[in-house]
Order: sequence, then C-alpha cells, then structure tokens
Amino acid sequence: MKTQQSFMPGKVLIDKNTISRRVDEIAQEIANEYKGQDLVMLALLRGSFVFLADLIRSLFEHSMPLTVDFISVSSYGDSVVSSGSAVIEHSHKLKLKGRQVIIVDDILDTGTTLAAVKEHLLKEEPACIKTCVLLDKPARRNLPVTADIIGFTVENVFVVGYGLDYDDDYRYLPHIAELDGTKSND
Ligand code: XMP
Repeated sequence: MKTQQSFMPGKVLIDKNTISRRVDEIAQEIANEYKGQDLVMLALLRGSFVFLADLIRSLFEHSMPLTVDFISVSSYGDSVVSSGSAVIEHSHKLKLKGRQVIIVDDILDTGTTLAAVKEHLLKEEPACIKTCVLLDKPARRNLPVTADIIGFTVENVFVVGYGLDYDDDYRYLPHIAELDGTKSND
C-alpha cells in the first residue's frame, strides 16, 4: 500500500511576475556592488536552482559576469520540520581564496543551513562572503543568522514552488504557494 502525497499546494503567496520583478531588482543590486570584481555564486542544492537560474541570467542582462558552483546540503528530508542540523553532502570545486562569494539559497528558515555553509566556506579565506536568499522566514530562526540580500519575507508557513519542494514535489511551480491539505492513504 502506497502512501499518497500528504499535502497539496494551496494559496499563492507570491506570483511569478512579482518574483520576476524582484529577481531583476536583486540582480541590479548585485551588479551595482560587484561590477568589475571576480564574483562566485555558490548555490545550495537543491532548492535554489530555479532562483539561481533566473538570477544569473538577469545578472547577464545587467552586464555582470560571474562563476557558479554548487554545494549540496541536506537538512529537511521529506518532512516539513527542520532536522536542526545541516550536513554538507557535496562541496564546491572552485577555489574561493581571495574571491568575492555570494551564497545563494532558496529560504532562510531556522538559520542552521546558512550558518553551517558559511562556517565551511570561511575556512577557504574568501575576500568576502555574502548571502542572498529568495525567502526569509524569520519566525522560525533559532540562530542569529541574517541574509544580506532577501527577496521576500514570508510568514511561518511551509512554502513550495519556484524550486522549493515538499517530498521532492512541486519544485516546478512558477510561483510560491503555501502548502496545504491533509494526509491520505490508499
Ligand atoms: P534552515 O532551517 O537550515 O533551512 O534555515 C534551510 C533549508 O530548509 C528548507 N526549508 C524549506 N523548504 N519550504 C521548503 O520547501 C519551506 O517552507 C522551507 N523552510 C525551510 C530549504 O531547503 C532551506 O534551504
């Protein structure tokens, strides 16, 4: 007997046009600050991949070249409750020493993931590390972590879409929706 998807996307919290406008503003902000510098964007897999893809193409429109690498961090599994620990499963390949680094993530929630990744990267002595998150959920923070660039602040609800998943589903939604619904089995 297979357990069916427990929850479904509900109310749209941020529609695709609003996301697109904000991504463009963020790209402008980054281009203004980093123009002419050697910028590395380190994206946290897997939730940030859609945000990253739109952001780097918008940065190109703002004449901001950069390099991209990825870090795979596991923290949530298939649950909507944070495990409270972040494990770096695969690290980046690029050398970071002396370079400008922006960590890109989908959502800053308890702060565990960004704190762990930042600590991990600081060992390589980059010139500067900043953090850029599409979403900030400050209500659940349990570490004193803030992001330098924030797309939107969300309430204390589990959200899906635009790269964010529940149980590996809904990453394909072009908007951010609240997760809604009840558990069912067949
Ligand atoms: P922490 O708690 O370490 O969490 O700041 C960061 C990671 O947890 C995942 N996360 C979510 N994923 N909807 C999701 O799809 C959410 O509402 C949510 N809150 C946290 C996400 O992978 C993020 O990088």
